Amino acid sequence: MQDFLKRLPKAELHLHIEGSLEPELMFALAERNGIELPYASVDEVRAAYEFEDLQSFLNLYYQGMAVLRSADDFFDLAMDYFRRAHAEGVVHVEISFDPQAHLARGIELGVQMEGLSRARRQAERELDMSTALIMSFLRDRPADEAMRVLEQAAPYWEMLDAVGLDSAECGHPPSKFREVFARAMTLGIPRVAHAGEEGPPSYIREALDLLDVCRIDHGVRCLEDSALVERLREERIPLTVCPLSNVRLKVVEHIDDHPLPKLMDAGLLLTLNSDDPAYFGGGVLANYLACQRAFGWSKETFAILARNAIEVAFLDDSRRQALR
Ligand code: HPA
Ligand code: ZN
Repeated sequence: MQDFLKRLPKAELHLHIEGSLEPELMFALAERNGIELPYASVDEVRAAYEFEDLQSFLNLYYQGMAVLRSADDFFDLAMDYFRRAHAEGVVHVEISFDPQAHLARGIELGVQMEGLSRARRQAERELDMSTALIMSFLRDRPADEAMRVLEQAAPYWEMLDAVGLDSAECGHPPSKFREVFARAMTLGIPRVAHAGEEGPPSYIREALDLLDVCRIDHGVRCLEDSALVERLREERIPLTVCPLSNVRLKVVEHIDDHPLPKLMDAGLLLTLNSDDPAYFGGGVLANYLACQRAFGWSKETFAILARNAIEVAFLDDSRRQALR
């Protein structure tokens, strides 16, 4: 089964590239850039990854990414991840990035884009992977800042497959970003949003109704609202579910209690993803394997989940056809 899951051609749709920063690379980049880390060793970094909730993770996530300064750093970050994903049987990856978190540290958007774009081209060429890019807005920062970043990204609009919405969810409903997402829609840029991870089901509704998103990231709390579940099923709205993330951020207590089987029984369009693999105990394959251990799903079920991701990915028709 392990071999089957590894070989199964998988697509990853929910991955924060800054959350793929492994401690080894964090140390290497800190040294390259003359940055002092608050840790003595790689083991010490890993030992610090005990989270109480989303915010306690975000604090370390934003701290960790401070080692990213040059385009080469962003290139190394993404390339490191693409190589690992490739080795796990991932054939298509959609990477989210958080431009505001870097702009706030004085790292220009052009630097971020140069490094990430170069890595995407190299992965496409050398690893025969396809990739997509999602520019995410930080929902715990003001909406007008997100709007300025969207306008600032004008030279790169063509390179964006979507815009997204992430960071601390509670108290920052999708409605806060309705103008920003309306502008993205005018520009013809597709939209996704995190909703229903820690936040209530009403945030999922808002993301659909006010932001016109084509996918919901996480969405696991939809189960608290049966009419919403029915709507997600009817409209075939994909959920990008991240089981190991949900365990590590205590959205669920244990993988055995994860709502994935219920979401599946409800007939929802589900995909399995890693979210922040360096922080949550592994990449896509680790998430597939964790579900296999917890739920004992058949090969057929995993094949459907993998197929779902390919069907709802930001892919051109010929590549999608080739991956089917
Ligand atoms: N949730 C919200 N924001 C994030 C996450 C997450 O799991 N990872 C990185 N930014
Ligand atoms: Zn996420």
